[in-house]
Amino acid sequence: MKHLLKMLDLSKEEITEILDLADQLKYELKHNIPHPHLKGKTLGMIFQKASTRTRVSFETGMYQLGGYPLFLSSNDLQIGRGEPVQDTARVLSRYLSGIMIRTFEQQEVEDLAKYGDIPVINGLTDFCHPCQVLADLMTIREFKGSLAGLKMCFIGDGNNMANSLAVGCLKMGMSVSLACPKDYQPPREILDFASQYDCFELTDSPAQAAKDADVLITDVWASMGQEEEAAVRRAAFAGYQINDELMAAAKPDAMVLHCLPAHREEEITEKVFEAHAKEIFEEAENRLHAQKAVMVKLMA
Ligand code: CP
Ligand code: NVA
Repeated sequence: MKHLLKMLDLSKEEITEILDLADQLKYELKHNIPHPHLKGKTLGMIFQKASTRTRVSFETGMYQLGGYPLFLSSNDLQIGRGEPVQDTARVLSRYLSGIMIRTFEQQEVEDLAKYGDIPVINGLTDFCHPCQVLADLMTIREFKGSLAGLKMCFIGDGNNMANSLAVGCLKMGMSVSLACPKDYQPPREILDFASQYDCFELTDSPAQAAKDADVLITDVWASMGQEEEAAVRRAAFAGYQINDELMAAAKPDAMVLHCLPAHREEEITEKVFEAHAKEIFEEAENRLHAQKAVMVKLMA
């Protein structure tokens, strides 16, 4: 494993190793056991979009590992003024031990990895969000004990979260049911991968997808960069909501996850959100531990 660019690149064994290390690092942090695996290393963090969790968890995670994080807003970098990613990659490789990038195009992240010679971590693109899904798998395993055989249901937009969840959960032996409106289904690359599995289902019916689910997950109706489509999307996604009625279709002990930020009364009701706050905020915490595991695997 040289980079973390997308879940499609990871094997089941690699995912398991990251989750095991994340559990260990979480234990060490809780018990004040120092774990300076990245002493003397530097992580550049390029953000072309806003962030609360990704920024703060990478920054404190790097600090806890004994390394030094640099926050690089694209507003301040030459990349924001058109310097090619090929050149940025080759320059940053001379200064840093690793790069985390949050941007729009998946190709930009792939190019950074291709032209640079240091590990690249995808902190979200329009196509995928692998760091979030590693934290989600960690959280599901923590609450349910294991992953294989569980049913994950995702309700909403077939973009970054749905894409990474489908791939990650299928690789770990889970069944996957996605409920997406017809015009908002995942891209061909994800559907081609998922259709190899008998336990994959794509539907436009939230109720059907939620049936007997162990885990229900949703995400915002309009992602970062889609703000101008918000009104159209509100109409298209009406009914794609995790609410009491949908919870009744799932298993009685079903858990609920949300990558956050959440829009209450859009993709999830306030009532369901608060009833499952324990899982949702553990999921947010687990970003820290899962990403520390990724950084140790790639940069130690
Ligand atoms: N879930 C997530 O990636 O949150 P941020 O956008 O706050 O980083
Ligand atoms: N789909 C959302 C996820 C945010 C973490 C977005 O891209 O804005």
